[in-house]
Amino acid sequence: MKSFYINRRSFVATSALSMVGCTAMGKTELAERLTVTPSGTEGPFYPDKLPLDTDNDLLIVNHKITPAVGQITHLSGRVLTVNGSPLSNAVVEIWQVDNTGIYLHSKEPKVEQKDSNFQSYGRFLTNNKGEYYFRTIKPVPYGTRIFRTPHIHVKVNRKGKNLLTTQMYVKGEKLNHKDRLYNKIKSQKQKDNVTRAYRAIPGSKLNELAVNFDIVIGHTPQDI
Ligand SMILES: [Fe+2]
Repeated sequence: MKSFYINRRSFVATSALSMVGCTAMGKTELAERLTVTPSGTEGPFYPDKLPLDTDNDLLIVNHKITPAVGQITHLSGRVLTVNGSPLSNAVVEIWQVDNTGIYLHSKEPKVEQKDSNFQSYGRFLTNNKGEYYFRTIKPVPYGTRIFRTPHIHVKVNRKGKNLLTTQMYVKGEKLNHKDRLYNKIKSQKQKDNVTRAYRAIPGSKLNELAVNFDIVIGHTPQDI
């Protein structure tokens, strides 16, 4: 991987291509991934006021030098229809808590203590292969009264229409079974579909992780 401190724009661009390059799949995997991605609740913390910077690098806000605290994670994937066609020009949005479990939202009780270097939200327009890419942090658990296991909220819109809202979980996370929303997901297959492996990037001095999340939209072609 390239150094974290190189020019930010070129970093994001080149990483997007190299990470997406890792998503080549065999036939068996492809069939598996064509299960429609199950939806999940939006929750109360979709930012009520979007940050000034809404790009796909959540680790750096605008031109600040200090990155967000957290384990650097490269999230990439494709947006596909059920028959495997890539969906271009889809807006993929993500939002998540900072490394101490605080959302960017006016109703977030601890918003004043939020890591101001964490962008909290980002969006990316898929290319003609349906690919998207974000640089963010590995999600952490939050909440005491209502506990939540680590997750990243994901929304897909196209032509102004919401195609999917869901939550992506961490494979192997021991807290998953304690999460009420996670337990509501109907089948193990559907759980697996939104529970993704965070893999260490070999040789990364910053212990960076990579996670792939292909999103399969269940709408009929005329809807999208
Ligand atoms: Fe959440």
